[in-house]
Amino acid sequence: MPQHFTPVPNSLEAYWMPFTPNRRFKANPRMVDRAEGMHYFTPEGRPILDATSGLWCVNAGHNRPRIIEAIQKQAAQLGYATTFNLGHPLAFEFASRVADLLPGDLDHVFFTNSGSEAVDTALKIALAYQRARGKGTKTRLIGRERGYHGVGFGGISVGGIVKNRMYFGSLLTGVDHLPHTHDPARNAFTRGQPEHGAELADELERIVTLHDASNIAAVIVEPVAGSTGVLVPPKGYLQRLRAICDKHDILLIFDEVITGFGRLGSAFGAEHFGVQPDIVTMAKGITNAAVPMGAVGVRKGIYEAMMDGADAAIELFHGYTYSGHPLACAAGLATFDTYRDEGLFERAAHLAPTFEAAVHSLRDASHVIDIRNIGLVAGIELAPRPGEAGERAQEAFRACFDRGLLVRVTADIIALSPSLIIEEGQIDEIVGTLREVLTQIA
Ligand SMILES: Cc1ncc(COP(=O)(O)O)c(C=O)c1O
Repeated sequence: MPQHFTPVPNSLEAYWMPFTPNRRFKANPRMVDRAEGMHYFTPEGRPILDATSGLWCVNAGHNRPRIIEAIQKQAAQLGYATTFNLGHPLAFEFASRVADLLPGDLDHVFFTNSGSEAVDTALKIALAYQRARGKGTKTRLIGRERGYHGVGFGGISVGGIVKNRMYFGSLLTGVDHLPHTHDPARNAFTRGQPEHGAELADELERIVTLHDASNIAAVIVEPVAGSTGVLVPPKGYLQRLRAICDKHDILLIFDEVITGFGRLGSAFGAEHFGVQPDIVTMAKGITNAAVPMGAVGVRKGIYEAMMDGADAAIELFHGYTYSGHPLACAAGLATFDTYRDEGLFERAAHLAPTFEAAVHSLRDASHVIDIRNIGLVAGIELAPRPGEAGERAQEAFRACFDRGLLVRVTADIIALSPSLIIEEGQIDEIVGTLREVLTQIA
């Protein structure tokens, strides 16, 4: 056997793990090697109740047979075909299904392989569209503090999580940020949407005054900011953003990578909040995470403006080798069938009040300083240990895993986003384990 194919003993060394303290993890690894429904299983066979649906992505639960079969069948029939200048039926079929699910006239769909790529694609479409309709000075992009839009240069430029930006140079130019909406002094322990803070959308007026509307292409926000620790939009906030964008002819992009596919009890956050964006980014739940995929949905008028040039020309110089990958499309179609046939979005809506009551029962648990929730997502914020920000939540995370529960933590916030198939008893189990852990840790 040639040297480079020599089997090596299984070692943790070579793999540089993403968003992970590698040295700490490798000194004390936590592994899973199987999953089913609401559970992961460790290599020793210990079940771990997954309160994060993977990474906010297996909305229909783990390893659903219908999705597995669709992928297997497609792999045997057509494992890959480019969609540059060539077509395969599933890409068109799946784009139609996504367009059907999207609200209003979000009728056209561009496929990517991840949320980060969807965000960068959406920003590029916004810029190209402004230029195509003769408004080429509209180049500025407006994001929001504490926003997470993936890890591409576009996404971290409009994003607002400091650590994700500070190591990576000057980022995109011409970007500005709205303030975040977190206001614990007025809104702590709110159930659902906070009462206070709609006026924070008016900061967009200030930004428009500063740069002039003729220079601004688009505003991008997550309808609910997820990765920063679950910030639910104040009542009226998104409506106000929409109105200001309309007034100044600015595109509104909703990054629905987390809020899409039933997380809030509707297909998309746009529908849940009754606000129509011009562009939507999505990923994760689009294929139940069984095959990587992202997508961008655009309104009819944007697509049509881009189709207005010379007939033979490529309208958008953008795309990925794996755009519309056949396995992802097969997984996506089976995922959508699962969501529909099992009524999972309705199920999430139905369970939301039970979930809300359960998570808010932790209000008096040790260290808890705020609880936020909407749909099947919640953030439980702990007081940080003096001089050791994030350590308390990290310890809670490890203690939960030891007790058979997977949660997600960012800073000192525990985020819960279970699959939409969760049973009420499992909601009780999550909350019971969390209470126990919070009592025990210092
Ligand atoms: C709102 C939002 N946008 C973009 C992304 C990036 O997605 P991906 O990790 O698939 O690149 C995420 C991931 O969590 C997200 O939550």
